[in-house]
Amino acid sequence: MNSEYSKKETARLRAFKTIWANDIDNVFSDVASYYDRVNIFASLGLLNRIRQQFISTIDIQPSHKVLDVCAGTNIIGIELLKKQPDLDIYAVDRSVAMQEVGKTRASQHGFKINGFICDVHTLPFPDNYFDVVTLQYATRHLRVIDVFSEISRVLKPGGHFYHCDMLRPANKIIERSYYLFLKTSLALLSRAFRSGTAAINCQDYFIDAIRLFYSTEELSRILSELGFADVIGNSVLGGTVAFHKACKV
Ligand SMILES: C[S@@+](CC[C@H](N)C(=O)[O-])C[C@H]1O[C@@H](n2cnc3c(N)ncnc32)[C@H](O)[C@@H]1O
Repeated sequence: MNSEYSKKETARLRAFKTIWANDIDNVFSDVASYYDRVNIFASLGLLNRIRQQFISTIDIQPSHKVLDVCAGTNIIGIELLKKQPDLDIYAVDRSVAMQEVGKTRASQHGFKINGFICDVHTLPFPDNYFDVVTLQYATRHLRVIDVFSEISRVLKPGGHFYHCDMLRPANKIIERSYYLFLKTSLALLSRAFRSGTAAINCQDYFIDAIRLFYSTEELSRILSELGFADVIGNSVLGGTVAFHKACKV
């Protein structure tokens, strides 16, 4: 791995180690019951459109084995099952509260998703197990190289990894306006939804996590350097979000 990215991962770990170990679970436990609604407000209603765009890039075939990493409230699993009901879907997440909401939502749609509560830096699956792995809106909270390597391990050769997250815009003007927008909207939404202490205390972290994160191009290079082939990265909304697709060789 290029030493630039290894150094950046060390810096991210140094900056966020305590929050990742102690606070992230409390935040998601706090927000689980209103997580899906708050995201619609925070994105000014764009979230559903962006998610449908991301889902439309995912190529799934009947009886494919699919893993959704950091599945949260199972939003991706449910959308994939709507598209192709004959899938074998697995979800991993560390938050019991988010997965409880996700389990209820899946059963309301008549879907079954096999949920696992665990830290995604070590995936509890054999090598070469999944046809498709997805990961949406969580990589900012993870050790990227470690998790992407685990994803590569559990993917079958020829299988695909689909990634979507809020990234650091490469354009400095967009970047500064974006942080200002996030700061204002996080403050307003935490009041409107009466967030608990954990979520309020992490407002600055949510912006810093993007500030120390990667641009679309950097994430593409990391995937290529980890041995993925045919890496495609597409920026959305000025590079504030991006979709990546990569193939396990
Ligand atoms: C912003 S939510 C995204 C949920 C879902 N992917 C979505 O798109 O709505 C981030 C999720 O990552 C999970 N998470 C963060 N760090 C984790 C870790 N180290 N291991 C497992 N799950 C983690 C949280 O519990 C939370 O459910």
